[in-house]
Amino acid sequence: MTGAMDISVTKVERSKLQDINLNDLPFGKYFTDHMLEADYENGEWKNVEIKPYQPLLMEPSMAALHYGQSIFEGIKAYVDKDGNPFIFRPIENFKRFNKSAARMNMPIVPEEIFMGGMRQLISLDRAWIPAKKDHSLYIRPVMFSTDAMLGVRPSETYKFLIILCPSGPYFAAPMKIMVEEKYTRAAPGGVGFAKNAGNYGGSMLAATEANKKGYNQVLWTDAFEHKWLQEVGMMNVFFIINNVAITPALDEGTILEGVTRESVISGFQEMGITVEERKISIDEVVEAYKNGKISEVFGTGTAAVIAPIKELNYKGFAMNFDTDSYKISSAIKTWLTEIREGKREDKYGWMFRV
Ligand code: COI
Repeated sequence: MTGAMDISVTKVERSKLQDINLNDLPFGKYFTDHMLEADYENGEWKNVEIKPYQPLLMEPSMAALHYGQSIFEGIKAYVDKDGNPFIFRPIENFKRFNKSAARMNMPIVPEEIFMGGMRQLISLDRAWIPAKKDHSLYIRPVMFSTDAMLGVRPSETYKFLIILCPSGPYFAAPMKIMVEEKYTRAAPGGVGFAKNAGNYGGSMLAATEANKKGYNQVLWTDAFEHKWLQEVGMMNVFFIINNVAITPALDEGTILEGVTRESVISGFQEMGITVEERKISIDEVVEAYKNGKISEVFGTGTAAVIAPIKELNYKGFAMNFDTDSYKISSAIKTWLTEIREGKREDKYGWMFRV
């Protein structure tokens, strides 16, 4: 059931919308007037409410701060060409959220709270959805453990929130990427496929060290050989080699099941571009580069959508790509944008009416 449930609603007295310049929206900086909050206690979700966006009160001993049972999602809402609000594939995020919850030994959030609450919240704050190109309302559901107790065990209480931020593009320019050989993001049996907070916290030092060398992010490699490619920064990665789109397979559980990744694969299949989901090594990429066979490298994710990569550096060998000549990734970006703007038939039923 994705319809409305009985959620108590307290509205703001005065909207902050007029204080915000909708023409200058850095990603994730401004939040809308309202948020959704729910608590899990004694095996059930309760206190489901929509209320003015506000700080939380927490115990210093709150379990999530110490032991990291914390998961989130990233989803986007748009307005179509007629001004109607739509959410892009939120059911996929809902399912992934609960897969993350299961892996982190956290309770499942029911559909009527996740989906029904999200719809109600967005309807209330719909004036905040930016209509500008490459802009959207970024939706951030998050759940974390709230037991006030330092024993290491799964918490018995949790909080679920949804907050919303009107946002511009995540990465403005093509990226320079270092192939990571020291740090590891994920290993089989770990939590790489889950969208838990620690995956992001654990990646920051690698990114900071890459930044110091003049790179925007890292290309993650496997934990054993630092050879098999996983993700780029916080995104899934695609290579166009001999006009075939290659992306690392998901079967080892080390890679997030990206909703944009899956959408891009469907788009490529529709466009007649062969897609291979398989293991791909950095050696194969270097070889293809030396033979002039690799034409495009890009990341896909909810925040950035399609992020072209202009340089990949492996052991000091710089592989440069002319992102202005990228045809396949720009075609898929246009294809996705047209579906999102309601200019192309939504034959997969991806646009979810608020
Ligand atoms: C995404 O693009 O899906 C992300 O996870 C990035 C987000 C953490 C800002």
